[in-house]
Amino acid sequence: MKMNKIILSACAALVLFSQSGLAKEIKIGMAIDDLRLERWQKDRDIFVAKAKTLGADVFVQSANGNEETQMAQIENMINRGVDVLVIIPYNGEVLSNVIAEARREGIKVLAYDRMINNADIDFYISFDNEKVGELQAQSLVDRVPQGNYFLMGGSPVDNNAKLFRAGQMKVLNPLIKDGKIKVVGDQWADGWLPENALKIMENALTANNNKIDAVVASNDATAGGAVQALSAQGLAGKVAISGQDADLAAIKRIEAGTQTMTVYKPITKLANDAAEIAVQLGKGETPKSNATLNNGKKEVPSYLLTPIQVDKNNIESTVVADGFHKKSDL
Ligand code: GAL
Repeated sequence: MKMNKIILSACAALVLFSQSGLAKEIKIGMAIDDLRLERWQKDRDIFVAKAKTLGADVFVQSANGNEETQMAQIENMINRGVDVLVIIPYNGEVLSNVIAEARREGIKVLAYDRMINNADIDFYISFDNEKVGELQAQSLVDRVPQGNYFLMGGSPVDNNAKLFRAGQMKVLNPLIKDGKIKVVGDQWADGWLPENALKIMENALTANNNKIDAVVASNDATAGGAVQALSAQGLAGKVAISGQDADLAAIKRIEAGTQTMTVYKPITKLANDAAEIAVQLGKGETPKSNATLNNGKKEVPSYLLTPIQVDKNNIESTVVADGFHKKSDL
């Protein structure tokens, strides 16, 4: 009897304690598009480690580039009773319903790196993605001021891919008008996968009798596929090509001269900031924003970070200095 009473009052104390908010551990569900790409493994590792230090628990799932899988994973996270959903969407256009469901359960939603359109999300954290596209095109134009350009877009269902393209065209359009640059092809690589980029590039080379002077590749994964196709034709290093993410393989290609540039986006800062924002959302606090973006449904409070151009002249002072890559790995 006495024991029962003790247990009962201990339970009551626990309930009181947790109601006061002190004992509540924030539960985060992190739904990642595709962990097969190098970049997202870094995002996950840093995010999870930071969230842990903030006392949160993170449950991670990767949809491996599949729309239905990602929706099912988000449903599952809602059923598990997470407080916050952190989503890197595969398709930023199809999550309205599942997010409405999350909102009905009182779950907060943070769009991570990629915007989720037409959905009632709480916050968006990313980089200035149009700026990424501008940096890519500008560094190619600096080296190849005239000639045949091939445009290698990213995943057609990733909002970022459209923003990168918009930034690229800001730089290219005046030169196209002047007749200096001719766009000889424009394709988008499904899922950002290198194997898709490889096929696209092979076909583009065939269609143009190898007469391509520059490739505006939107990230390093697709640049990798394209360089493989160029290399098969003995053109690697002769054709200027952009990238993004400062993947280790891309930095190596830049050193070897087969890739012109990449865009380094300090993922450590993104992931750490995102973990803080997720925990703040979970506690009902309002995270600091520096921009507002319309996602078709609402004005979304956002936090945008600055991308950095990397070519063979500043590898040391950027990705190495930041500890993003070890000098010994290069
Ligand atoms: C984009 C992201 C890029 C790149 C790409 C492929 O949304 O902004 O950094 O990694 O996805 O995953």
